[in-house]
Amino acid sequence: MLSLQDNELLTRTGADSSMGRLMRRYWLPVMLSSELPAPDSPPRRVRVLGEDLVGFRDTDGRLGLLAEHCSHRGTSLLYGRNEECGLRCIYHGWKYDVDGNVLDTPAEPAGSKLGPKVQHTAYPCHEVAGLIWAYMGPKEHLPLFPSYLFTKVPPENVWVTKSVLECNYLQGLEGEVDSAHLSFLHKEWGAGSTDDRQGLFQQDTTPAYEIEETDFGLRLVALREAGPGEQYVRVTSFVMPVTCWINGRGTKAPHIYVPIDDTHTWRFDMGVLDRPATADDASRAQEIGPDFHRVRNASNDYLQDRERQRTSDFTGIAVFLNQDAAATESMGPLADRSAEHLGVSDRGVIALRRYLLSTLRAFTDGGEPPHQVTDPRQNDMRHIDTIAEVIPAAEHWRDHFPHLLQWHSQGHRP
Ligand code: FES
Ligand SMILES: [Fe+2]
Repeated sequence: MLSLQDNELLTRTGADSSMGRLMRRYWLPVMLSSELPAPDSPPRRVRVLGEDLVGFRDTDGRLGLLAEHCSHRGTSLLYGRNEECGLRCIYHGWKYDVDGNVLDTPAEPAGSKLGPKVQHTAYPCHEVAGLIWAYMGPKEHLPLFPSYLFTKVPPENVWVTKSVLECNYLQGLEGEVDSAHLSFLHKEWGAGSTDDRQGLFQQDTTPAYEIEETDFGLRLVALREAGPGEQYVRVTSFVMPVTCWINGRGTKAPHIYVPIDDTHTWRFDMGVLDRPATADDASRAQEIGPDFHRVRNASNDYLQDRERQRTSDFTGIAVFLNQDAAATESMGPLADRSAEHLGVSDRGVIALRRYLLSTLRAFTDGGEPPHQVTDPRQNDMRHIDTIAEVIPAAEHWRDHFPHLLQWHSQGHRP
């Protein structure tokens, strides 16, 4: 359990909150590239960390992410004209570039100094792997974009989806470090059962966990017996501030939980493959409507099928994405963690909270946040990985996967 005070600390992400300030020190995905498909295409509204923003792609293809409300008198820039390298407000024609400079104030007399005096809120953007990322922190702390695996593979080898999770980000994130729920929430036994590793989860529902602190966050290792002389190793990486790299059916899958506000979250799911991705790989996209809300959601009880629950899977709710949502959204929009009863199976969740709280305390005491890349020579992220493999029981996972420890690993907190 968590005290109410610690729960508040971890879950509040507005600009004035400690966690909000910490999260703003990292690049966060805010939109799919496909939402801004071409130069001068229509701007799109997006809410992130409680801030209402408008994204646009200018005539030269540069990306801008501006505060939604015009600095003149507050009209929404969503309706603006995206033309000639700037976004022009429909009310009196003020025009902004991607950096938030006011290029034109056509209602003012010639020679007016008003425009140059105004700096509109604008956040730097970076586009990679089908996503538009933004940095919403202080300009003087702008980090390099970490060279994650998905920045190194051909773009067609990555798929990505975006959906709304109707609860606080931490509930989603905790589900990703909660290896124990795989044996229950996602259990299938019917003819349509899709994951050949399901058998391995189910044979041994009480894995041994090893959790260690690293330079990027946490590495969580779950070890299960997998038959004579073999063990099934799952490695999950929690990467600051809101990403978990998990392994699903051989796909390395970063799942990213970006707060929309404190009771809603953008869930970005990526799949990184060693071949071009197909529509089948990203099949969860079919679960998501054009407004990014899931077709199966709380308002229709996730279209739970009781017959299916009786005969072929644990929940009667189709698709991992919806199963996770049913489990985490039904805790409430912002879970009260002071009433929980945590057990041994919650080690990952406890480790995540402990890590985030200690990181937050160090940061509010004036320390530098972890996983900030400022030197291009140290921008090597090969040790951030996720694994699901059967290896000999006699071999230690560290010896079998030496790349995990080769770069920057710090200490070990069992
Ligand atoms: S409110 Fe935007 S130009 Fe006047
Ligand atoms: Fe899950």
